[in-house]
Amino acid sequence: MCGIVGYAGRRPGKPIILDGLRRLEYRGYDSAGIVLIEDGVLQTTRAVGNLDALYAAAGANGSQATVGLGHTRWATHGRPNHENAHPHDDCSGRVSIVLNGIVENYKELRAELGARGHVFKSETDAEVVAHLIEEHIGDGLTAAVRATLASLDGHYAFCALSADEPGIVVGTRDECPLVVGVGEGEMFFASAIPAFLTHTSTIIALEDGDVVTLRAEGAQICDVAGQPLVREQTVVPWDDDAAEKGGYETFMLKEIHEQPAALRDTLAGRLREDGVVDLSEVGLDDEMLRRLRRIFIVACGTSYHAGLIVSYAIEQLARVPVQIDVASEFRYREPVFGADTLVIGITQSGETADTLAAMRLARAAGSPVLAVTNLMGSQATREADYVLYTRAGLEIGVAATKTHTAQVAALLLLALRLAWARGVMPEAELKRLGHELRAVPEQVEQLLARPSAIEEIARRYHDERFFLYLGRGMGFAVCLEGALKLKEISYIPTEAYAAGEMKHGPIALLDKESPVVVVADDSPVFPKLVSNIEEVRARGADVIAVATDGNEAIGELSRDVLWVPKCDHHLAPILTVIPLQLLAYHIAGMKGLNVDQPRNLAKTVTVE
Ligand code: M6R
Repeated sequence: MCGIVGYAGRRPGKPIILDGLRRLEYRGYDSAGIVLIEDGVLQTTRAVGNLDALYAAAGANGSQATVGLGHTRWATHGRPNHENAHPHDDCSGRVSIVLNGIVENYKELRAELGARGHVFKSETDAEVVAHLIEEHIGDGLTAAVRATLASLDGHYAFCALSADEPGIVVGTRDECPLVVGVGEGEMFFASAIPAFLTHTSTIIALEDGDVVTLRAEGAQICDVAGQPLVREQTVVPWDDDAAEKGGYETFMLKEIHEQPAALRDTLAGRLREDGVVDLSEVGLDDEMLRRLRRIFIVACGTSYHAGLIVSYAIEQLARVPVQIDVASEFRYREPVFGADTLVIGITQSGETADTLAAMRLARAAGSPVLAVTNLMGSQATREADYVLYTRAGLEIGVAATKTHTAQVAALLLLALRLAWARGVMPEAELKRLGHELRAVPEQVEQLLARPSAIEEIARRYHDERFFLYLGRGMGFAVCLEGALKLKEISYIPTEAYAAGEMKHGPIALLDKESPVVVVADDSPVFPKLVSNIEEVRARGADVIAVATDGNEAIGELSRDVLWVPKCDHHLAPILTVIPLQLLAYHIAGMKGLNVDQPRNLAKTVTVE
């Protein structure tokens, strides 16, 4: 969740580190800090709030230091205040560290270090790392970091500086991301590649336990025992523009409009001309798909909603029983695994701690694990037997949009291939669905280009205190996602309910001031939804429906209709969620909120 940037080079490091932090700000934004080695002395600046506060405190330029570290924080241990902001230093002020993740045994370590005379300045778990390094610094920074690892429990990535070795930065990782960027006469550490993409796209992906010493000239990597290691350099095919807003007011709006491209890229090469899905690149062969008796899907937040949407499609099309759970529940509920159970972990970042833990658990119990992720080389890819990439490109807005629809598209491909392999549907029908899926990116493009009433609706309702979302089947799962979007960026309480359940409780919430959003696309459950809409209208609440072009009945029933193009109902969730993303976006905008950085949230959640 926190973001780390490290630099060792020949140029002034401060603007490079601050710019890198700006690009990682989506990872956490409650406080930030930077440390530079200036004339053999560590100069640290910390600030509470987002990066603007750090820029104000540190100034963008004015330092000639060529080695330094930066950090943007999402608080886990210790409130977001000045003392708890990273970097943290040791007692002597000669060692400084930035950390992402959690040191689980920090209380014991703090007590032991305290007994040996160390004095702590923060409430964080991270600070113990600086003090542990201090105890071993006589052997040099790299050896001190290696020695420190022996004392730490948890999952973390950290980088360290020593004023006595002003030309190096040392970093290490264990189950938290840290990647090396290889420039010309300069080297970078970062939690994620976009931090240094302006300077280089050549990276070294690190393994858990690697200890890396960066100098301007290059990286030396060893294991915890000091044995040298060789790690390959790769060039990432990413465009630096991805980290810019490209003329849009916000990243979220840009990413909503990038959905046609994200969907096209996700489907590319995976749908044959005849409409048959080809997932051979994933390595899941038809024989294995035929043998499956059950599928578990585990994920969090928006990724969970993508899983829920497609769980309906998998059961309906491929006739395999699917159980789906949020990863934080799944991992502790002692699920029954088996070799004939495929476990699918969905995580756009590939870093979500609970999802990774659930995948690890499944694998240890002998179930094959498939990761569905947007991030090449992320931790999820290491915890899985198979990887199905979404190709949505970098997503910076905290509220997931394009990665969500790309997940749904990728998982629909899987549903279709499963159905094909198991021979449970006529081939012609599967080919028709394949052709329809191929047309969806174009339909999304048309949908985004249409004039729509969304802004007018947002203006009318942005001061309401509660929104109810109702749907059935896949439409219910879309409602969960629409309701999450609205609550996370506008802070308006929302509830998403299976429409048939409404009269068992939530109907009590309805009054004239509570708009009800109904996902009412043309699906087999549409006639059932009509009676639910009538129940809502009878209580005086306004209905905003998301419906399929040409559905005449819905116009009579709703105050507003947000139309989406016609497609097979299994594919419709890719379209119906888009008006809900935009509704949330405009409501939050009208409330004057920062949609890219909603309060209390972080884009990647690397703690449980
Ligand atoms: O990276 P992941 O897909 O594992 O992230 C899961 C959730 O943290 C994420 O979807 C979260 O709910 C988003 N903020 C939703 O917009």
